[in-house]
Formats: sequence, structure tokens, C-alpha cells
Amino acid sequence: MSKLTQSPAWQALLAHRSQISNQTMREMFAADTGRFDRFSLQLDGLLFDYSKNRLSDETLKLLLDLARQSGVGEWTAKMLGGDKINTSENRAVLHTALRAPLGAEILVDGKNVVPDVHRVLDDLARFTEAVRGGAWRGHTGKPLRHIVNIGIGGSALGPLMVCEALKPYGHPEMQAHFVSNVDAADLVETLKKVDAEATLFIVSSKTFTTQETLTNARSARAWLVEQLGSEAAVSKHFCAVSTNLKATGQFGIDPANVFEFWDWVGGRYSLWSAIGLPIALYVGMDNFRQLLAGARAMDEHFRDASFERNMPVILGMLGVWYGNFHGCGAYAVLPYDQSLHRLPAYLQQLEMESNGKCVDRQGQPVDYDTHFTVWGEPGTNGQHSFYQLIHQGTRIVPADFMAPIRSHHPLGEHHAMLLSNCLAQTEALMLGKTEVEARAELEAQGMSGEALETLLPFKLFPGNRPTNTFLYDLLDPYTLGMLIALYEHKIYVQSVVWNINAFDQWGVEYGKQLAGKLLPELQGKVELSAHDASTTNLLKRCLAGR
Ligand code: F6P
Repeated sequence: MSKLTQSPAWQALLAHRSQISNQTMREMFAADTGRFDRFSLQLDGLLFDYSKNRLSDETLKLLLDLARQSGVGEWTAKMLGGDKINTSENRAVLHTALRAPLGAEILVDGKNVVPDVHRVLDDLARFTEAVRGGAWRGHTGKPLRHIVNIGIGGSALGPLMVCEALKPYGHPEMQAHFVSNVDAADLVETLKKVDAEATLFIVSSKTFTTQETLTNARSARAWLVEQLGSEAAVSKHFCAVSTNLKATGQFGIDPANVFEFWDWVGGRYSLWSAIGLPIALYVGMDNFRQLLAGARAMDEHFRDASFERNMPVILGMLGVWYGNFHGCGAYAVLPYDQSLHRLPAYLQQLEMESNGKCVDRQGQPVDYDTHFTVWGEPGTNGQHSFYQLIHQGTRIVPADFMAPIRSHHPLGEHHAMLLSNCLAQTEALMLGKTEVEARAELEAQGMSGEALETLLPFKLFPGNRPTNTFLYDLLDPYTLGMLIALYEHKIYVQSVVWNINAFDQWGVEYGKQLAGKLLPELQGKVELSAHDASTTNLLKRCLAGR
């Protein structure tokens, strides 16, 4: 047994879990009118209601004891201070430095990184103003109005999610497109939508070695040259964002068009860096800075608030409560905000690439669960597809709901309907429907006897299903910055408790390695090597069909 599962705080939670399972949330709400006040927090207009959880004052105390025992405070200080906490890659983890104010001092290997951060921000400001204002034009003199980001994973999902979320702030004549997949359908279909003379390609890759991105970038470059009939067009239509300036040079991107970031920024934590260039181009630098300011507010809150009032700590520890003490393996992200429709996909990488680990920081196998499968869809769409499982399935799926109080698109009764659905779902999940209630409803509908008894079991809802709810006024850049940083820190809190490194991703390497070996075999360039029977036969079928 690991030190963690034997620890006093863990053992106390195990014992508490059996006690609290005798009580439902419905009973807790009925017995305690102050529950919402005690179990909700506010930060700069972001309301976090966590009262609809299987939680008492004692539960919260024990969860926070576990956070303290695990050293969440100390590890937070280490991360914010630039310690090399990503030990398997020997790197500091400083996405928070990307939103630090000018004048702050954060040292990596004895060097303050904050001036560099602001130098690149100023470069981004100059470039975005030139492109948006039309001073920087394409090869034939047209203003650049189509941005095509070529990148994958962390070099795509964050900027894509944010550009979608901040559409109301977007330049009216600009469109942001994102090409990630090495499946040519992604690039080809995107290129059909853009005008080469008005297109700026951003090749985004932390390492600048990623197969998909480099392949898409080469094909996009060839297309541009063909469309505009000149190699000279490339320098006006291509820029890059990377930590690998040597590789961007070798690729043929003018060094003047390369925006830099650093190895202490994890790919999935990089939207705040120059990787956010598509965001800055699309919504403008002022809005990009507001996004950073929102994240900074959450960083300061995470650093300064007591655990009892700390959103990321509480959100993280609620996850630990369900993951490790209730056997939950998944949680749902359910934005009642269409503009956040890519948030679940973004959080999938953030959460699952960070905490999907089975060895601890010392390389020892863990004997407790460390991660969640994250999934979701905007409400109300999800209600008509998978909510059935959340309401009446055999497994508990904790869910995070979020909604703006006002809409960027006020139209008739739409927004009131959206909000009513959001609140109704969390109420229904918490309350459930008892046999007495279901029976009364069926009787009121005129049913009785055998027909009623037959239908009754299907009409029952177990309830006591946990949800968090986030409410905010309008989804503006500042609020979005807070929300994203909240999830970043929540994931970190959990990784600290689980004693894992949230910032490496060795698990994605093996598949890449085997794909590299299979590629020449599929291209018929080399003989088939020894594979298992399944892979060999699949390979043969592909070869026969090509
Ligand atoms: O394959 C996983 C990964 O390394 C992610 O961690 C990263 O966000 C993505 O690939 C893209 O990497 P890069 O920005 O170096 O192209």
C-alpha cells in the first residue's frame, strides 16, 4: 500500500465516506438553509456553486486536510516560483509567468523570464495591429483576413476553443481557421474556404518536429506558391510560433516572422504564449491582454486564498473525493453556452494528458486512481443525447455546469429557456424522484393499477448526483481567462495529491514511434517487418487497396 492510501487524511476520508453515504443531498439541503452560502464562492463575477455535492462541513474539512497533508500549498509555491517540478523533462512549469505583470520577477536558471514574456507580447501587439489594421498585407496587396492556424494538440485546441468562445469580440472581416489532422481532408476542406491572397498561415508547434503539423505546413506552402505563382509570397503569408527557432529557420520561415516561446511552457498550457497569436489576431491585443488578466486574477486567488475559500483547491479536491472515494472514472463538462462548444475537447487534453499517469513522481506504480475521462457537449444539446445516463445510469458521473447570466445574442426567450434548462438539470440530478413522487405524478395523469406499477420503476430517479455550477455575467475575455486558469490549477491540485507529474506526456510517444516504422511499410518502400497477426493483416489489406 502506498504512503498516500495509508495516510491519516486518506483513511479519515475512507471512514467518512461510509458515514455520509447514509445521507442524501436532498436531506442535507432540507436540513440546512445556509448550505448555498457556505458552499459557494465568488471571484470577480465568477460564481462557483458547489453546494450540490455529497459534501458536509466535515467532508470539506477532511478533503482540505488531505490537500494540506499532500503539500498542495508548498507545491503551488514551487510551481509559481519556477522550480523544475517537471522532473522527467527537467523543466520548470511557468504558464503562470505568461500572465505575470511587467515588473514581476520569476527566475528560471537564475534568469528573470518576465521581461522576455513582455517582449514577445509587444511583438505580438505590433504584428497583430499591422495585420488587423492592414499595414501588413499579402503578396498582392490584399489585407489578410483569413487566419489559418496549422498546429495540433496544445498548439491548436486552446486557440481554437478561445476563438470560438470569443466570436462576439472577433474582427468583423476576419475568420480564424484551424487545421490539425494529418488527414488531408482537414487542410483541403479549409483551403476551399479561403482566398490565398488574403490568407495568413501560422505554423504553430512547440517542438517544430510534429509530423502532422509539418506535413500540413508543407502542403499549405505548396498550395500558396501555386495559387500566387511566386515563392516570394511565402514571407508575407507564413509565420511560425515555436520554441525551436533552428527548425523554423530550416523550414524556410523568415526569422522576422517567428514568434518565440520557451520550454517551460507546456504545450497544453500554452495558449497564453505566442501560441495565442490566432486569438490576438482575431480578437485584438486588448482582448488578448484581458484574457491574460483574467487568468492572472485566478493565479493570484489560487496563490493567496485560504484553502477554505480557494476555487481550484476545492474543485480539485471534489474531484479527488469522487475519483478516489466514490469510484467515479469520468466527469462531464456541460457549458450552457454555445460559444464554449470546444471547451470539453480542450479540457480533454488539459486534464487527460496531464493526469493520465500510472507511476508517481518517483517512477513507482500507484495503487490509486489518478485521472478522469472528460467528456461533454453544450447544453441543451447534450440533454437529448447522453443525459439519460447521467440521470439514471448505474455509475455516477459528476458534472460541471456553466452558464452566462446574460447573452451576447439576446433573442426572444432563448436565453431564459437556456438558463431554465441548466438550473433544472442540476436540481433534478440532486433531488432525484422518489417512488412516492413518481406514483403521485402517474396518478395525476390518470394511471392506476397494473399499468402504473409496471411503469413506475422506469420513472424513478436515484438523485444525489453531484454537480458544480459556474455562473458569470457574459462570457468576456477576462471571465474566460479565469475559467481556463481555474481548470489548469484544479488539475495541478489533483496531481499533487496523487503525487504524479502533470507536465510530461511520455504516453503519446510510443504510438508515434510505431507509426514511424509502419509508414515506409505502408508506402511500399520496405518489406513488411514482423508484426502481430492483426497488424500484419490490416497492413496487407491497406496495401492491397492502395
Ligand atoms: O503528441 C502530444 C503533443 O506532444 C502534445 O503534448 C502537444 O500539445 C502536441 O503534441 C503538439 O506538439 P507541438 O506543439 O510540439 O507540435
